[in-house]
Amino acid sequence: MKFNFKVAVVTGVLAVSMGAGLAYAALSADEAITARRACMKMGHGGVLGAAVPMFKGDKPFDAAALKAAFDAEDKLCADWSMWWAPNLLKGDKELTHAKAEIGTDPKGFDAAAGAWYQADQNLRKATDLASFKAAFPALGKGCQGCHEKFRAPLQ
Ligand code: HEC
Repeated sequence: MKFNFKVAVVTGVLAVSMGAGLAYAALSADEAITARRACMKMGHGGVLGAAVPMFKGDKPFDAAALKAAFDAEDKLCADWSMWWAPNLLKGDKELTHAKAEIGTDPKGFDAAAGAWYQADQNLRKATDLASFKAAFPALGKGCQGCHEKFRAPLQ
């Protein structure tokens, strides 16, 4: 997959140690917000959209449908490491629910991203309904764990 968590962590640490996110001067805050919201809504949301009906038994386990959702997630979320520098958290025009804590607790944010990433990788290994059902709850916890600390409530 394209998302590389180690690179994300290393570049995240670099951005913080360089101060005001100089590494990402090319990306405006509004651009970062638009990209990360698309990753969340269509990338992560697409995975849940495919997975939840299978988990509930409303649809049969479908490895191809899951793979398509993961591939879309990889594309939409590929630039993840570029979106969270302190100077990108608030935009001029775009609405954002990113909390300031992402800038003040970058280690906590990376840990939350790492927990989600591990759960996402484990879910990708599921080959049948039983392994899928065993791996899925951790993914939901991965999303929730980050949102509780680092995302303002969606209205
Ligand atoms: C490491 C932190 C983190 C993880 C992991 C994470 N999110 Fe998010 N999520 C955020 C933040 C921060 C925002 C707010 C982004 C913004 O508005 O700029 C957000 C926003 C969202 C939104 C609202 C998008 C919109 O239209 O504004 C959805 C939906 C969402 N996340 C779903 C998910 C799902 C589903 C998962 C797991 C598969 C997930 N997220 C994993 C941090 C995270």
